[in-house]
Amino acid sequence: MGKILVTGGAGFIGSHTVVELQNAGREVVILDNLSNASEKVLGRIEAITGKAPVFYKADIRDRQALDDIFSKEDISAVIHFAGLKAVGESVAKPWEYYDNNITGTLTLVDVMRKHGCKNIIFSSSATVYGNPAFVPITEECPKGQCTNPYGWTKSMLEQILSDIQKADNEWNVILLRYFNPIGAHKSGTMGENPNGIPNNLMPYITQVAVGKLKELGVFGNDYDTHDGTGVRDYIHVVDLAIGHVKALDKIDEKPGLKIYNLGTGQGYSVLDIVKNFEEANGVKIPYSIKDRRPGDIAECYADASLAEKELGWKAQYGIREMCEDSWRWQKNNPNGYEG
Ligand code: NAD
Ligand code: UFG
Repeated sequence: MGKILVTGGAGFIGSHTVVELQNAGREVVILDNLSNASEKVLGRIEAITGKAPVFYKADIRDRQALDDIFSKEDISAVIHFAGLKAVGESVAKPWEYYDNNITGTLTLVDVMRKHGCKNIIFSSSATVYGNPAFVPITEECPKGQCTNPYGWTKSMLEQILSDIQKADNEWNVILLRYFNPIGAHKSGTMGENPNGIPNNLMPYITQVAVGKLKELGVFGNDYDTHDGTGVRDYIHVVDLAIGHVKALDKIDEKPGLKIYNLGTGQGYSVLDIVKNFEEANGVKIPYSIKDRRPGDIAECYADASLAEKELGWKAQYGIREMCEDSWRWQKNNPNGYEG
């Protein structure tokens, strides 16, 4: 097999995936426009793996740049993380989200086929299930109504990639539906690096823990869940990264369309996470109950048995390690990669 192009490889999930790919002996080329990442992560990847990945600062909408990369490097498969992902921002800037995520992916796929590379693993999301018809969610669960443009880009791109595969059965398309990635690399040198005030639960908690934010707002305690707060399937980012390495092995088998949930199968409420974080790290997280956040659902957790059966993948890390590793990263890097 040739090299693996990792779009968005300088980002949170991408950087952890590059580490696991290099650990598994794969040759990696990263493409990222650094719109939501720091170039410093490249040094961290090198320190962990002993190898500097090849890096191109480029945009997936830049056809010429993509063409040059595919001409120069022997790319046999693409793991496609590049995209904008802030739910709230997508409501305010729908055009930017559709352009970046949809136009970007269409351009990437067009250049791929021109160069005869028809293997793609795509970062999808549990958000495509909308308010899920049932839990635990299997891949058979019908897709639902998304509540924001970001979610629609994921849902539409799943459809687009599936249609492309249907029309040309040389394509190997693997859609990975992530549940809620948290945690960080064990070394404490790589982790999530959100811009401004975090929208997601774990980075908000770690910023409260490190003293950058005063208290956590818990969005609603009147859901139909065991303690009234929202339940999610949190998955360690390293487990998620390893899921991509396993999916790549599947690409080596035979073409087709495959869809897998990547989650642990365990649901935890917001207050469960607060409690686990406090116990794992000996840090108090002050919180107060706020109104529900528009667009949120009560519960969302995976049945990830298909990935276990077909990819031989199962999440290894529990909630305690997720909390410890998130905290180690934040404590060692209070300002992310910038300090
Ligand atoms: P991230 O923002 O850390 O990583 C995305 C990377 O893509 C960033 O490094 C960014 O600079 C880059 N990028 C964005 N637009 C680009 C463009 N036009 N050209 C080149 N590079 C571009 O986010 P992440 O959490 O690592 O997410 C990776 C992927 O997984 C995204 O597609 C995201 O939508 C998806 N996903 C994330 C979550 C989550 O909760 N983190 C859940 C489900 C799915
Ligand atoms: N929450 C709070 N306070 C906060 C932030 C979050 O109480 O400050 C709660 C939410 O209401 C929810 C839970 O914590 O119940 C998790 O919220 P996140 O924002 O961390 O994650 P979401 O489940 O809302 O969404 C995430 C990603 C989406 C992705 C989805 C897939 O942000 O991109 O997981 O399941 F689509």
